[in-house]
Amino acid sequence: MSLTKKARADMPESKCPADFDFFDEEVLNCPYEFYQQLQEQAPVYNLPGTNIFMVSRHSDVKQLLKDTTTFSNNFTHLLQGPEPAPEVTAIYQKAWQPVDTMITADPPRHKTYRTLVNKVFNAARVNAMEDYMREIAHELIDGFIERGECDFIREFTTPLPVYVIADQLGVPRDDLRDFKTWSDAFARRLSQLATPEEQIEDAENIVAFQYYFANMCEKRRKHPQDDMITDLVTTKIADPDTGVHRSLSMEELQSLLQQLMVAGNETTTSAITGGMLSLLQNPGQLKELQDKPGSIANAVEEILRMESPSAGMWRVVKKDCEIHGVHVPKDSLLMLRYHAANRDRALFQHPNDLDIGRKNAGDHIAFGQGIHFCPGAMLARKEMVVAFSALLSRLDNIQIDASQSDLAYWPNIVLRGLKGLHITFEKRVQA
Ligand code: HEM
Repeated sequence: MSLTKKARADMPESKCPADFDFFDEEVLNCPYEFYQQLQEQAPVYNLPGTNIFMVSRHSDVKQLLKDTTTFSNNFTHLLQGPEPAPEVTAIYQKAWQPVDTMITADPPRHKTYRTLVNKVFNAARVNAMEDYMREIAHELIDGFIERGECDFIREFTTPLPVYVIADQLGVPRDDLRDFKTWSDAFARRLSQLATPEEQIEDAENIVAFQYYFANMCEKRRKHPQDDMITDLVTTKIADPDTGVHRSLSMEELQSLLQQLMVAGNETTTSAITGGMLSLLQNPGQLKELQDKPGSIANAVEEILRMESPSAGMWRVVKKDCEIHGVHVPKDSLLMLRYHAANRDRALFQHPNDLDIGRKNAGDHIAFGQGIHFCPGAMLARKEMVVAFSALLSRLDNIQIDASQSDLAYWPNIVLRGLKGLHITFEKRVQA
């Protein structure tokens, strides 16, 4: 039986992955239909004209994360981007050169650094931060509550994680002025969308970050304190190549500090901002959370699932292989799409709807899985719970100020964050 031309024309247009350009700003902003087509028709999809294979199903991403021999995290060359202009290279040469520690290291090298970070970033230290986090959240709210409106990203979600991680590391508050600028420079370098002028600006900021931390490390070597930088400069590791016990080199320290400083800021900011937007778009659920703050921990898992601020991660394919019948040649890149996996219908019903009571919200893989599982997950979760608890206990009738909010997401392939969210509110009258 075949359809007449008229009947076909009346049918809703059915799309396929090739109808979408992943790098297009609109698709990056709202990729959900693309994800669904991928999951149904091409779970391992070679993005046209590239050597990138996008993996979108939850079960596949989880499975591939286990095979660290075939799929390597050594994607340093991608982070560096295309050959920079000589001026940019000259600026980077003034400082310490990159070495592979956590995110770009494979076993057995990865284990050396990861064991160290797990020790330094321990649960006791993170748990001990809770009161301090609450204090910061309330202080930030004090800064805008009388106005009845705020630039939510600038005044709340950006400073909160920066203050928290800086305190964990042992950076004095007075020195935080430049942190956001430095952190943005790393994120923009990662996005590889910087103009030549911006590349120079980013290089200068990254070098300034390195000098600041080199100075900080020297201070802590001389005058140890109870903080992470002191732990990092005083600890000994077994050299990953020779096994000789030694202190971390300045290159290694810079690499670890950069990851701890940068990985946590943008992602936590985006998770809280995106979560607030979702709640404002679902006022019934927002009200439910205000009435039952005990549900905030599960709501945070649901927000992490929906937002997945670390939207995708690279893996370099070390040998020819076949995934779902698709031949993936050596040296190709896998884009493990955490954001798509967390909206996979095979696991999450109505995946594009917020459901703060979702029973399996915690099955998301927003923090990755396996040996590279996010070491900041506990800290980020705690910050999110503290942030929403403080906000919902003090603000009422929260609304989006559409005239001042840019509710689009930045066009970035690996990090997902909202451009702008302005809110209005009333002070909550405590019962
Ligand atoms: C909501 C907030 C966060 C999200 C969504 C997130 C997400 C992720 C993901 C998906 C990975 C795995 C990358 C891979 O598969 O290769 C990762 C790794 C990592 N994260 Fe996070 N992260 C968050 C917060 C933080 C914080 C607060 C810190 C530190 C203060 C942090 C530090 C790191 C580091 C150092 C790695 C690399 C670990 C390794 O390679 O062994 N993250 N994160």
